[in-house]
Amino acid sequence: MPGGAAPRPATARAHPNIALIKYWGKRDEALQLPATGSLSLTLGIAPTTTTVTPDGSLAADAGLLGGEPMSATELGRVSRFLDLVRARAAAAAGADPADLPRARVDSVNEIPTGAGLASSASGFAALTLAAAAAYGLPLTGAQASALARRGSGSACRSIFGSLVEWLPGAGAEDAASHAVPLPDSGVRLALVVAVLSPGRKKIDSREAMRRTVATSPSFPAWVESTPRELAAMKEAIAAADLPRIGELAESNALRMHATMLGAIPPVRYFAPATIAALDLVERLRAEGLGAWATMDAGPNVKVLCAPADAEAVAAAVRGAFPGIDVLVSGHGPGARLTSPAGGGA
Ligand code: PMV
Repeated sequence: MPGGAAPRPATARAHPNIALIKYWGKRDEALQLPATGSLSLTLGIAPTTTTVTPDGSLAADAGLLGGEPMSATELGRVSRFLDLVRARAAAAAGADPADLPRARVDSVNEIPTGAGLASSASGFAALTLAAAAAYGLPLTGAQASALARRGSGSACRSIFGSLVEWLPGAGAEDAASHAVPLPDSGVRLALVVAVLSPGRKKIDSREAMRRTVATSPSFPAWVESTPRELAAMKEAIAAADLPRIGELAESNALRMHATMLGAIPPVRYFAPATIAALDLVERLRAEGLGAWATMDAGPNVKVLCAPADAEAVAAAVRGAFPGIDVLVSGHGPGARLTSPAGGGA
C-alpha cells in the first residue's frame, strides 16, 4: 500500500460513560450529528476490549461479541464502521480502499450488552482506536472522538476519561462534532449502577431517538433548554457543587424521558423497579444522603453521589433489590490502545 503501514492486529480498551446532561436526538442521521451538546462521566468499570485483525483471506468482515458471533445487525454496523476507517486510511495513504483486507473483530464487554448501560459507547470507542491502529490511520484525540461518533453517538465521549463534554458542532460539518475533556475542577463523583434488568432493551436508542425527533411535541423544548442546562452543569462542576450537579443531572434525565414519553407511539423504558428505585433515591435524600438518579435508554437507574457515600448508597440499593447486580464506579480513563503498545487518544 503506497505510503501506508501494512495492516496488523490491534487491541484497544474503552470504558462506558454515563451522561449527566443527555444526548437525545440527532440533527443529521447519516453523520450522527446531535441536536444538542451533552456532558458525561467516563466510568472506571466494565470496559470493552476489542481486537481488530485484518485478514486477507476473509471475503467479508466477521465479528464476535462476548465470544459469540455478532447478530447480522451488529455485524452490519461494525462492518459499515470498518468501511469508514478503511476509506480514511486508504485516502491518507493514497491507496485504494478495496485493496485493504476485511477484518475479524473480537469484542468483549464486561457489562450486559444492550441494557441501557452504554455498552455501545465503550464498544465503538474501543473499535475506533483498534481499527484505526489496525489499518494505520493516525488520529488526534478529537479526530478519534469524531470518528467514534459515527459508530455510536455517545462513543465519542468514551474516547476521553473523567468528565467530558461533547461539542455539537454546527451545520453538516463532520469533524467539528467531537468530545473534549473538561478542565479538572477537583470535583469527584461516584455512580452506583443498579442493574434492575440486565436483558436487552425493547427498543434501541437509535430508533427511539428517531421516533422522538419525528413525533414528540416536547422535542423542540428539549433542544431549546439543553444548552442552558449544559452551561449550568459546567458551572456546577467548576464550582465542585455536588448537590447542584445532582439536581441538574436528575432533572435532565427525567426531561429526556418525558420527551420520549411524548413520542407517538410513546417510548417508555420505565419498569416497575425503575419507579421503585427513583422512590428509593428520593427517600435517601430525605434521610440526608446526597444521592441523585439518572437513567438512559433502558429501565436501569444510576445513582450519582459523593465517593464517600457510594457504599452507603450501594447498600441501600442492594437492600431494596436483593439479588441484583450493583456496580460502583468513580472517574475512569479514556480509551487506550493496548496492543501494539504505546498508542491512545
Ligand atoms: O450513543 P447512543 O446512540 O447509544 O445514545 C445514547 C443516548 C443515551 O445514553 C440515552 C444518553 C447519553 O447521552 O448517553
